[in-house]
Amino acid sequence: MGDTIEFSELKPPERILMGPGPSNVHYRVYRALTTPIIGHLDPDFMKIMDDICEMLRFVFQTKNKLTIPISGTGSSGMEASFVNVLEPGDKVVIGVNGVFGERMVDVATRCGAEVIRIDEEWGYIIDPNRVIETLKKHPEVKVFAVVHAETSTGAMQPLEEIGKFLKGGETLFVVDAVTSLAGCELRVDEWGIDICYSGTQKCLSVPPGLSPITLSEKAVRVLHSKKSKAQSWYLDLSMIERYWGEERFYHHTAPISMLFALREGLRIILGEGLEERFKRHQTVGDYLKSGLMELGWKLFAQEGYRLPMLTSVILPDGLNDAEARRKLLYDYGIEVGVGLGKTRGKVWRIGLMGETCKRQNADALLLAIRDLIRK
Ligand SMILES: Cc1ncc(COP(=O)(O)O)c(C=O)c1O
Repeated sequence: MGDTIEFSELKPPERILMGPGPSNVHYRVYRALTTPIIGHLDPDFMKIMDDICEMLRFVFQTKNKLTIPISGTGSSGMEASFVNVLEPGDKVVIGVNGVFGERMVDVATRCGAEVIRIDEEWGYIIDPNRVIETLKKHPEVKVFAVVHAETSTGAMQPLEEIGKFLKGGETLFVVDAVTSLAGCELRVDEWGIDICYSGTQKCLSVPPGLSPITLSEKAVRVLHSKKSKAQSWYLDLSMIERYWGEERFYHHTAPISMLFALREGLRIILGEGLEERFKRHQTVGDYLKSGLMELGWKLFAQEGYRLPMLTSVILPDGLNDAEARRKLLYDYGIEVGVGLGKTRGKVWRIGLMGETCKRQNADALLLAIRDLIRK
């Protein structure tokens, strides 16, 4: 027998989570997480699954039958969106104006697709006219993909015009809504989006671990008519849909507690109402932005296209990024996000998502920043 090792009780500190996710979680969601589990094939669990799908349709603003939460974080939704429709040699157009567009390129390339990039400077949107011109030049393209809310830059990509152009054609419109879902307008059906995925840890305000996804009939037809199997067994939607559909065919053991949590998180959203929730994110986001500008700080993302739920701000000269974030975390209990990639050390990404999106949290941060720059 070896020596006994003792571990202290788990006691993470309280934090205001104002980074790019995870966001704070409502006590009702925590309560749902501790609900005793039942089996993932229990008839009573089936009802819970159906409730989740129905509420997800409401939040995605879609009637798509195949609307389910995938086991895994937001990146699993991204991966599922590509591996289930792409085959080696297929052409894909991807808008790249930040880390997550770049990640899409990586995933599509791993599927053996030929990627045509539309690059834009970080912080700026991709002009929908550029997208439409590129797609006109390449009518054979199987997928056009873009990030709605680029969490690495704070820019909000307009989608409607692109969706209108793609409607009725063969090209699938894939949208990353990891940060935007339930925080701002996103009309999957009306905007002609064929595949849309998200993550639970942002504006849905549920811990990380699930990726809600929805597929239009057109996308489902591509999924079913594909010649080769998806490169991923775990994310193969043609098998996963049999568990979420009438058959209830076992694929993998569903993360039951996380699904309980998502169901409660969705119930909270329905209780608040989508329009009210969007308004709250816009109002509190605007309030933070004006507070930062009053301090003389400059916003990073393109004016007119700034995300309500994530504010990217340029650090003033003389402020030590790492030191200031450390102080915010340890002295004030506030987490803000570091700049990603090219913007590291130059930008902060401040999230006001879901439960965190309250004026009192914006005030707490503004006060703390005033304190920090005074010292
Ligand atoms: C826009 C966007 N896409 C994808 C992801 C990946 O999600 P996850 O980290 O949950 O895998 C993130 C995470 O921050 C994101 O912000």
